[in-house]
Amino acid sequence: MDDKAIIATKELTKRFGGLTAVDAVDLDIQEGKITAIVGGNGAGKSTFIKMISGVYQPTSGQVFYDGKPLPVGDPLAVRNLGIETIYQDLSLIELLDVPDNIFLGREKYRKMMGFRILDKEFMLQESRRIMDELKIRIPSLSLSTGSLSGGQRQAVSIGRAIYWNAKVIIMDEPTAALGIQEKSKVKELILDLKSQGVTIIVISHEMSDVFEICDNIVVFFQGQCVGNKEKEKTTIDEIAKLIITGQGLN
Ligand SMILES: Nc1ncnc2c1ncn2[C@@H]1O[C@H](COP(=O)(O)OP(=O)(O)OP(=O)(O)O)[C@@H](O)[C@H]1O
Ligand SMILES: [Mg+2]
Repeated sequence: MDDKAIIATKELTKRFGGLTAVDAVDLDIQEGKITAIVGGNGAGKSTFIKMISGVYQPTSGQVFYDGKPLPVGDPLAVRNLGIETIYQDLSLIELLDVPDNIFLGREKYRKMMGFRILDKEFMLQESRRIMDELKIRIPSLSLSTGSLSGGQRQAVSIGRAIYWNAKVIIMDEPTAALGIQEKSKVKELILDLKSQGVTIIVISHEMSDVFEICDNIVVFFQGQCVGNKEKEKTTIDEIAKLIITGQGLN
């Protein structure tokens, strides 16, 4: 179990016109571990995870999940396989309320007089249950999520991932917009998920958080993966040098 790669990318590449955002990345993500992806702005981190989650179609290369090719360019198929992603920019539909977001693309229906109608009550109850379970306080679940705070939206996204029994949760800067209290709540949630066997991939600029909670640290530099280190075998200095220059200490 220790070294099993649950996600593996082979020569994964994304070009936008003349710009190579992600350049032939070979990376193994270990099952049951917390892996941090770090790197400067524009290093290709978000683009990389969007190819895993199906938001972007790779220009070339492949993604394997549990040894099998992952569907490309199909976010719902990827979610249905147990990989949930919480994005920096596009996690929730702001016009929809909390239950509609949690059940987005996987709505629950019931039959009434022969008609198939949305089971709003079920979705509301289930949303309430998961939010309570996570001790997440949201004034009203029926408000559009656009009126929630950044931290509350983050929490709803995490709640959705947990509700659908994600095996892998990918988070793009989950604590960037959060206050101190919400930050430690999210870190607690991440460690909790790990103890339940969930594999976590987290993009972060916060070196102290990375060294506090992660097992492995992957460094991106100008679209390339320039380092994949066990936390116990590296230092903040080494990671900082990799982020800034693309080269390790020697
Ligand atoms: N949809 C897009 N169209 C064109 N170029 C893009 C697109 N998305 C990203 N890029 C470019 O690809 C490169 C990598 O961007 P990406 O968002 O993956 O970086 P990042 O490592 O997530 O940065 P940050 O830490 O600032 O979030 C950047 O140069 C960016 O301008
Ligand atoms: Mg990004």
